[in-house]
Amino acid sequence: MTIPVPIRITVALVAVSALVLGVWMGLMRIGWFFGTPPAPGTHGPILVLGFLGTVIGMERAVAVGRSWAWATPILAAGSVITMLTGAPTELTGALLLVAGSVLVALFATAYRMQPEPHIILMGVGAVAWVLAAGTWLAGEPVPSLVPWLAAFLILTIAGERLELARLIATTRSAKMQLAGAVAVVIVGSAIAWAYGETGARIAGLGNLLIALWLLRYDIARRTIRLGGVTRYMAAGLLIGYAWLAVSGALWITTGLQMASTGYDAALHTLFLGFIMSMIMAHAPIVIPALAGLAFPFGREMWIPLIFLQISVIVRVTGDLTGSYEMKRWGGMLNAIALALLVLIVITTVVRGEIAKRKPHTTV
Ligand code: HEM
Repeated sequence: MTIPVPIRITVALVAVSALVLGVWMGLMRIGWFFGTPPAPGTHGPILVLGFLGTVIGMERAVAVGRSWAWATPILAAGSVITMLTGAPTELTGALLLVAGSVLVALFATAYRMQPEPHIILMGVGAVAWVLAAGTWLAGEPVPSLVPWLAAFLILTIAGERLELARLIATTRSAKMQLAGAVAVVIVGSAIAWAYGETGARIAGLGNLLIALWLLRYDIARRTIRLGGVTRYMAAGLLIGYAWLAVSGALWITTGLQMASTGYDAALHTLFLGFIMSMIMAHAPIVIPALAGLAFPFGREMWIPLIFLQISVIVRVTGDLTGSYEMKRWGGMLNAIALALLVLIVITTVVRGEIAKRKPHTTV
């Protein structure tokens, strides 16, 4: 049984709405008021699990080609609706818990067919999703989910990159180094349940080690020398890894203390600098794979990528120098970078689809 196209489209539209509303909530929280968005307190979970969880779930469901795998993106999209409508947190937490558990089951199934380290890594990332949802379900406040939300995304991305790094035959010692860094992330995030500050510092060290590993072993270091879309993707990845390293250092120094000057910078060097650079880098391959749409890469894709970097630098400088106005403008520039991405992706897809439909003339 395949999942009907209208359901796939609805899930994709809910994911995009989660991005738009999540950014609107973020803008409000940083001091820009364009009316009051629904449920501004769910900014972090709606972006990480509602938007990215749905997109990652869709990508995996398409990759494995099993209809039950669609439970992850469908339930994650359902959680977007419950968050926005102000349904009890228990319901949202339960939906997310089941969605994450299905993802864990998916990786367990995949591992039986293909016992590879990158599948374990992505599976551990999915476990981090389950733990974030469980922590929320247990009534903990949103900031205490942050180490697990971050671990979900970092381990998923590291797993995907490891999958590609297989092409250049990483050594056993390199794999052991990565396993060590992942263990530090998991131990730190678990300690953060009881000792928030200490745990966050340890998890930050793990994030930093993963960043250094990626900078050292990712094939992007080689492909940056090529041209076109390959160079664009490699640049996005390497810049993202650099942000992950900066974020790791900030987690270590701030202990993710909400009252610290660097709290916002520690969060958004990771969630915007690292994660959004990854999304931008992967867009040219994920969009055709997920939606079957043509994506004729053009140089304009560099615009949101470069704009995003400038905007994160402005915001982090504002954070670290205590300049509220600079931080606030940095937040606005972040939102513009994401809007530019959406706009350029839509125009590229439209251009590609028109070109596809044009009758080919032979001379
Ligand atoms: C225009 C873009 C964004 C703005 C203006 C923004 C703004 C904010 C603000 C002001 C906070 C509270 C920080 C504090 O208490 O000092 C926050 C927290 C957070 N943000 Fe963002 N953010 C943006 C994008 C994102 C993105 C893309 C993600 C994830 C992919 C994200 C994830 C989080 C998380 C996990 C938290 C902590 C949990 C929470 O308080 O909800 N943010 N954001």
